[in-house]
Parts: sequence; structure tokens; C-alpha cells
Amino acid sequence: MQKTRTVLVTGGCGFIGANFVRLLRDRRPDWRLINLDRLTYAGNLNNLDGIDEGAEYRFVRADIGDAAAVEELFAAERIDTVVHFAAESHVDRSITGPAAFITTNIVGTFTLLEAARKSWSGEGPQAAAPRFLHISTDEVYGSLGAEGYFSETTAYDPRSPYSASKASSDHLVNAYFHTYGLPTLITNCSNNYGPYQFPEKLIPLILHNAMQGKSLPVYGDGRNIRDWLYVGDHCEAVLEVLERGEPGRSYNIGGNNEKMNIEVVTLVCDILDRRLGLPATGMTRRSLITFVKDRLGHDRRYAIDATRIREELGWQPKVGFEQGIEMTVDWYLANQDWVAAVVDGSYQEYYRTMYGAH
Ligand code: NAD
Ligand code: DAU
Repeated sequence: MQKTRTVLVTGGCGFIGANFVRLLRDRRPDWRLINLDRLTYAGNLNNLDGIDEGAEYRFVRADIGDAAAVEELFAAERIDTVVHFAAESHVDRSITGPAAFITTNIVGTFTLLEAARKSWSGEGPQAAAPRFLHISTDEVYGSLGAEGYFSETTAYDPRSPYSASKASSDHLVNAYFHTYGLPTLITNCSNNYGPYQFPEKLIPLILHNAMQGKSLPVYGDGRNIRDWLYVGDHCEAVLEVLERGEPGRSYNIGGNNEKMNIEVVTLVCDILDRRLGLPATGMTRRSLITFVKDRLGHDRRYAIDATRIREELGWQPKVGFEQGIEMTVDWYLANQDWVAAVVDGSYQEYYRTMYGAH
């Protein structure tokens, strides 16, 4: 692989995308990086504080489904690499409002694939061998019982509008590889946690509520299992796949770290009790746990078999769960301004003044 790339990162103002932009700036400072993000509720320019626009970095506010804007960007910037994070990502929102998931996750991915196909099949060599890396999820495989793991050959069986939309986009990506020879790669990752995660997802939501003395909603019996992975480990895996993965292949990424939701929630409570002392009530934060109505169609268990990426690319997670959760709690405690701006909505006022409402 050639040294210098011009990389289009989509969704770089979201949780994982922002962590990935930071990793790339650090590890591949000579790559030019274009961050295309629509700045939905989940996109936050504050996630990239300290990353300034210049020769190596440009931010473009646009929708991945805007074919004219995307094609113009491919041509103007001579994009040779795509790392596609942009998506509607929250399962609960997909249950109450699936339309945006279809538009962004399926049609938006199609639009990007088309732009890459047209651009890369045109005349003139690219600066680097093109790559289109699509970031997907383990949820495409459905739900496990007590035994077994998702491998790359597990049949797709998505069960929520979110996972169905991600599965559809994976199929389109594979179709572009087989039909047009587009050099695509897919990663299917388990649950991430860490800095800059929007406080609608389990861990940052529980952290925020526990600090505010609010109830901690645990769906159903709290015994659903997720395979938790620290976001920094995920981003390193993405870079490995981008540089050394084989086009046409998928790579599962997981933390080998299965936990029941109730275990995760009690651990967060206990760490906060240790860090901050007991709340004024004198009760441990575990007392805030409230079992609530279950999520519709709630998948029971996810667990990843990450043998392929370990054996073929030598990647494995570095951050253990207890360590990662402690680091995450400390990040949220140290970044209460970030949390406050998200919770009161002022993070959006900032970008509306810069880019206008949409
Ligand atoms: P996120 O919701 O935090 O961020 C999504 C980003 O995409 C935001 O910046 C948003 O503004 C942008 N975006 C949304 N719609 C857009 C559009 N139409 N055009 C341009 N930008 C748009 O998501 P995340 O948790 O960082 O997830 C990133 C990717 O990783 C997603 O594709 C998701 O499916 C996948 N994934 C997430 C996890 C996880 O645990 N969070 C695990 C596996 C895979
Ligand atoms: O597995 C990868 C997926 O992980 C990603 O593709 C998704 O983008 C990401 O959002 C995540 O999906 P989940 O639905 O697993 O994550 P969430 O944080 O919403 O929920 C984690 C578990 O916690 C799940 O079993 C539902 C439960 N839960 C969630 C919330 C928000 C609760 O019990 N209470 C809550 O308030």
C-alpha cells in the first residue's frame, strides 16, 4: 500500500468517527482527511476540538445521500479511500422512527458507493490503491442463545429496523465488490464504549443519570448480553483492516468481553460511588436502578468470534473492560462541559451559527 492517501471519513463528528479521526491524525499525519458529516443530533463539532482545518484536514457539512455534493467532493479532492461511519446508529430510535435509518443507512450508503464507483472507474491513476471500508455492526447476525458466537460466515438475520438497514447496506457493499470490482471491505463490530459517546446509549446514559441522581432504566430483566469493546481498540482494528485487509472480505471485531446489562450498570454505579462518594441520600447509586418495559424485539445476546482479524491481521483488543470503564468514567467526569452542552442542546447552537439550520 502506498504511503499517502486522501481519505473521506463519513460521520467523523459522531462517537466512533471522532475517535477515528483523532487516531488518524496521530498515526497517519501525512494523510489528507476529509470529514463529511451532516451534523445530525449525533454529530458534534466539539468532538473534534483541537483538530483544526488546514492542508491535512477539511470538514464538509453535507448529507451522504446528496449525490451531487458527494460526487463533487470525490472529484475535487481526488478521494482514494473511504471510511464510512455515518449512520443512524441508535436501535431505540429505529423502533420509534425507522424512516431516517432507511434513508441514511441504505440510500446514503448506496450514494457513496455510486460516487466511488464512478470516480474510481474513471480515467487517470489514483494516488493510492482505492479502498472503501464500510463500518457495520454485529447486529446484522441477529440474536444468540446461551451458546455460540457470530463469525463472518454466520447467516444474516437482522431483527430491528436499525440492524436491517445495516444488513441492507452490507449487501450493497458486497454487491459492488462482486459486480463492479469496487475494492470494498466491511467490519462488523460489537458494542463500543468510551469518550464522546452520545448519552442515549447505555453506558453514557447510565453515567449521566447516576451523576444526576436520576433513575437508571434497565430494560426487561437486565440479563441481555453485549460484547463490549473500548472504542480506541475498535479504531485501531479499523485502521488495520483499511491498510491490510483483503478487498471483498468482512472482518468481525469484538472485545471477547460478554457482560449482562445489569453487570455493566452496577459496575458504573460502584465506580461512581468510589470516585464521588455516596450521594446526599446516603444510598448507593445501585439504588437508582429501575427495571423498565423491555425494548421491542430486544436481541438477547451478541458475542463475536474475532479469530479472522486476530489470525490474519494480528489485531486483538488491548483495553480490558474494568480498565476501559474506569477510563470512560474518568473521561466523562473530566468533560462535564461536553456533557452539559449535549444535554442542554447548546452543542447544536454552535454549529447552527457556523453552518445554518437544516
Ligand atoms: P453516532 O450516532 O455517534 O454518529 C453518527 C454520525 O454520522 C454523526 O456524526 C452524524 O451527524 C453522522 N450522520 C448521520 N446521518 C448522516 C448523513 N445522512 N449524512 C452525513 N452524516 C450523517 O454513531 P457511532 O456510534 O459513532 O457509529 C458509527 C458507525 O459505527 C455506524 O455506522 C454504526 O452503525 C457503527 N457501529 C457502531 C457501534 C457502536 O457501539 N456505537 C458498534 C458497531 C458498529
Ligand atoms: O452491537 C453493536 C451495536 O451496539 C451498534 O451497532 C449500535 O449502533 C449501538 O447503539 C449498540 O446497540 P445496542 O442496542 O446494543 O446499544 P444500547 O447502548 O442502546 O443498548 C445496550 C444494551 O442496554 C441493550 O441490551 C439495551 C440495554 N439498554 C439500553 C438503554 C439505552 C437498557 O437496558 N437501558 C437503556 O436505557
